[in-house]
Amino acid sequence: QAQKRIQEVEVLLNKMTIEEKIGQLNLLTPGGGVATGEVVSKDVESKIKNGQVGGLFGVSGPEKVRIAQEIAVNNSRLGIPLLIGSDVIHGYKTTYPIPLGLSSSWDMELVKQAAQMAAKEATADGINWNFSPMVDIARDPRWGRISEGAGEDPYLGSKIAEAMVKGYQGDDLSATHTMLACVKHFALYGASEAGRDYHTVDMSKIKMFNQYLPPYEAAIRAGAASVMSSFNDVDGVPASGNSWLLTDLLRDRWGFGGFVVSDYTSVNEMIAHGLGDLQAVSALALKAGLDMDMVGEGFQTTLKKSLDQGKVTETDITNACRRVLEAKYLSGLFDDPYRYLDPQRAKKDILAEDNRALARKLATHSFVLLKNHNNILPLKKAGKIALVGPLADSRENMLGTWAPTGDFNLAVTILEGFKNVGAGAIIQFAKGANISDDTDFAKNVNALGERIVIDERSSETMLKEAVDLTNTSDVVVAVVGEASEMSGESSSRTDISIPESQKRLIRALVDTGKPVVLVLMSGRPLTISEELDMPVSILQVWHPGVEAGNAIADVVFGDYNPSGKLTATWPINVGQIPIYHSAKVTGRPAPESGEFQKFRSNYLDAPNTPLLPFGYGLSYTTFEYSDLRLSKKEIGRGESISATVTVKNTGDHTGEEVVQLYLRDVVRSIAPPKRQLKGFQKIKLKKGERKEVTITLTPDDLKFYDAQLEFVSEPGEFKIFVGTDSNADLSESFILR
Ligand code: IFM
Repeated sequence: QAQKRIQEVEVLLNKMTIEEKIGQLNLLTPGGGVATGEVVSKDVESKIKNGQVGGLFGVSGPEKVRIAQEIAVNNSRLGIPLLIGSDVIHGYKTTYPIPLGLSSSWDMELVKQAAQMAAKEATADGINWNFSPMVDIARDPRWGRISEGAGEDPYLGSKIAEAMVKGYQGDDLSATHTMLACVKHFALYGASEAGRDYHTVDMSKIKMFNQYLPPYEAAIRAGAASVMSSFNDVDGVPASGNSWLLTDLLRDRWGFGGFVVSDYTSVNEMIAHGLGDLQAVSALALKAGLDMDMVGEGFQTTLKKSLDQGKVTETDITNACRRVLEAKYLSGLFDDPYRYLDPQRAKKDILAEDNRALARKLATHSFVLLKNHNNILPLKKAGKIALVGPLADSRENMLGTWAPTGDFNLAVTILEGFKNVGAGAIIQFAKGANISDDTDFAKNVNALGERIVIDERSSETMLKEAVDLTNTSDVVVAVVGEASEMSGESSSRTDISIPESQKRLIRALVDTGKPVVLVLMSGRPLTISEELDMPVSILQVWHPGVEAGNAIADVVFGDYNPSGKLTATWPINVGQIPIYHSAKVTGRPAPESGEFQKFRSNYLDAPNTPLLPFGYGLSYTTFEYSDLRLSKKEIGRGESISATVTVKNTGDHTGEEVVQLYLRDVVRSIAPPKRQLKGFQKIKLKKGERKEVTITLTPDDLKFYDAQLEFVSEPGEFKIFVGTDSNADLSESFILR
């Protein structure tokens, strides 16, 4: 097969003019969907006819894609079909939780199923290439795009990257229900300074290799067909023109054989980065190993000139073209350019009932119970429930950020979900507050459509209505937090607390003395010290997707017992950022007691510990860990070691628990993190049931990148910690000889 592919692509390459080869490196968008840059492509049809387009995005639906493919196949000289890309980030039409939420399930089978469903729907709508997964490690919750990834941890991030690639691509890329994955944003996009989107990144290679690069590598090892370069610079050179990144690391070290696409006009943006004019940056990008230019058309307009002037070679252009053609070949587009364009399939596969059922399941599994005051949750489906808050009946905010192919009109609100699932209870609604009263802030958030609706009524009137309703109810559930566009691309915040308008509502509800449940919606960790201190219960639900209301009601009323765990640390305040569980221990660590000590690494005004640690999440039941033991006390290099622990369900409900294993390399040549996630298992236990859970550490799990960037393990003591979150304190040690 590989031989046949190589031969056929070579035959085609031999027929191509240099202009046609350059044409394949051009990715355009006619701007049908959400344009995330200032430019959209012009004269797309004539460019396709002239053989100047390799792929399109922002076009979907079997009919529309067929028109575009027919132009390419019938009206361009060589009839080369188009790649059809899309941002299918958390579901295609059946939108499921934002990726940060999905990652909180810690359930790799579910993550894979989610990606499979997305691929099935997207391919039924003519898409053959997905700009996902986004695997950028993010440790700064101010950064809006933390919502689009799997959080802070390279080990978990790698597992999720792998599951998503396998879900999208399956075993056969030419199958009509699979699509090419595109790993993004290569690299380090999640580490932008001060959490401001598109900002500069500056990081040591040691940190890169040990903490930030593993998920990209895992996705590539899982077979990802393409990679998207990021907007930021790496070691001073923007990723789209960085030959160390795109060639030395990606191709030479990791053996990546697919193609690399730029982000939206990121080649052109190298001009603003200060690397030269359009011709110079386009040549730089091609030479660095970038194969396809998204929207900017720098390749299209300057590469021929650069070739004539000897700034790039024909081989550079042919190599890039070959990679794009191979991807088309793998997708089966040369066999049948219309293979993803069956209108009957679109009707059957998109928004199928099974898909909505899966979206509901994914949502329930993504929720994290942060606090259960007086075990008020789950609620009974009886009595009088006041459902309040600006997000309780806000269809436009259910899908979350970057769901451009979804339709929020199809989403179930919390009010609807409560009525569907909680029938038996009397459910009454009052908005209580605006998401934010700050009109300037609301205007910025609403740039892509009205997500923060400022009510015509005064804040006092709304507040009073909610308080009055609460006073005559048995319990109040307040749905509060962030509008969907308060996170995501270009949605960074310097203050990540619940907006003041809603805080006022929460305080007033607590003052009624009624039991208060906060259903907290957000695309990032929030600073919620004040709320966590209150006598309230808190269920974190992210932005749950099209089945939001039903899924939230399933959990609030106990049809599903929450099992999610945080995949990014929640800070006490923004001053603690960056804060993450695998930080290094300093030479002057803070005292264990948490008390401030002069000339130690601590703050005058806050502890070093976060508000909520990585891995944290409660259940309606309780789990007890005991009897941790290792299979060996000493191992040689190349040997594995297993840790076994007994977990018992000591509460009153069946529940699921994510058993987590952290490792500390006690002595090594570069300072180790205080602990790092190295294994986990999600288990289900009935009330009273106990299970032995075994997690095996492979030789690679003990390795790290040393000062020479070699992946090595070093002899000495290792400590493991097993438990319910990253503060796990059951511990054992072993020696690596
Ligand atoms: O895939 C996205 C990327 O994540 C951000 N810029 C635009 C691309 C295409 O829509």
